[in-house]
Amino acid sequence: MDLEVIVEGKNRLKGEVKVSSSKNSILPILAASLLGEGTRVITNIPLIKDVEVISRLIKALGIKVTYEDNSLKFAGVVSEQHPPYELVRQIRASFLVMGPLLARQGMVRLALPGGCAIGTRPIDLHLKGFQALGASINLSGGDVIARADKLTGNHVYLDYPSVGATENIIMAAALADGTTYIENAALEPEIVDLACFINSMGGKISGAGSNVIKIEGVKELGSCHYSPIPDRIEAGTYMVAAAATGGDVLIKNVIPEHLKAITAKLTESNTQVLEEDNQVRVSRKDEIRPVYIKTLPYPGFPTDMQAQFMAYLSRADGSSVITESVFENRFMHVAELLRMGAKIKTEGRTAVIKGNNELTGTTVKATDLRAGAALLIAGLTARGSTKILNSEHIDRGYENIVDKLKGLGATITRH
Ligand code: UD1
Repeated sequence: MDLEVIVEGKNRLKGEVKVSSSKNSILPILAASLLGEGTRVITNIPLIKDVEVISRLIKALGIKVTYEDNSLKFAGVVSEQHPPYELVRQIRASFLVMGPLLARQGMVRLALPGGCAIGTRPIDLHLKGFQALGASINLSGGDVIARADKLTGNHVYLDYPSVGATENIIMAAALADGTTYIENAALEPEIVDLACFINSMGGKISGAGSNVIKIEGVKELGSCHYSPIPDRIEAGTYMVAAAATGGDVLIKNVIPEHLKAITAKLTESNTQVLEEDNQVRVSRKDEIRPVYIKTLPYPGFPTDMQAQFMAYLSRADGSSVITESVFENRFMHVAELLRMGAKIKTEGRTAVIKGNNELTGTTVKATDLRAGAALLIAGLTARGSTKILNSEHIDRGYENIVDKLKGLGATITRH
């Protein structure tokens, strides 16, 4: 269903907001619950669309899934090898069930991620990893079919530290015969969270968070009770919203260490960020200074914060430059920001944001999750009111965003 959000501009955000659990942790953790045999309880579940879809996917694979008191409980073992396309096509992250299914079922058949083909929006690194563990890979009728009677530990070198490939290979290797080393692994905090989750079921994974991860295969994984880390991108989005509106917001339930790149760029642009144990206070009184940003794998600046910073920097006192080095073609939000009066020029993977510019509210379209978040930030600072169409994209990754912004004093409604 198409949803729209209407936000009034010129609104300084003030007050406190609590961050939910990390979307990018929960998705692989839920996929990894397919590896277990006991009762797996995951607490502090954020009510977001992607979690709902992956839970339905897990249920369709034969697991008993119950939701109670903000927790998801999984019981029973997986009995299927072919997740239904109707669910798979809804989120790219459904590819994360491939590693666990291969490990448990010896075979998996999965539709290629929607709109992607190996070679363009690739999954080649995931598949190379499975092959290194002894799987055969075939393509048939738009599906990837992976088979392995028994996976065997090996050295896997990733040409690029892909988050999803690192996660899929960890999950496949968790029940393999022998030890796997992933070299040039992704360093993201969500990788560490996944390893901790699997270890809480009885796994033997070490080195997560460094570029060599060691996975000693175990015979079986059992019960656990686990709470994922807070969402650093949700936190970053409220930090930027506070900064963009010249507000003063206390953002609770964060791990400041995970926000270093975001904090550094906000500070450089003249916004004050005060870090405490598990919260950050963000406020801005003076002009926004222009900055240079290049997105990189963690601990570099996150690509998932690029769009939100672009909205913020549209109001800077001078020109900023953003280079997107992680994904091709991740400037879909530019056309919508231009419609609000931003002055942005892109060439290849670089955007120059002219700044010194007041944005004006109009009707815009959320093309994806983070683009939607950027338009919300732009709308909060603009003159007049902004209508964001297709705002269901925002619900894929932000729990209760309308109510959380209302709690900070925003005038915002959903239709
Ligand atoms: C994850 C996050 C996403 C974030 C991204 C980068 C989840 C559910 N999603 O996505 O929010 O933006 O990390 O931080 O956690 N690539 C290949 N071959 C592969 C796999 C990836 O070439 O086999 C390329 C991709 O096309 C992209 C880059 O590597 O250009 C990064 O992708 P990757 O780190 O895999 O991101 P995701 O796991 O898809």
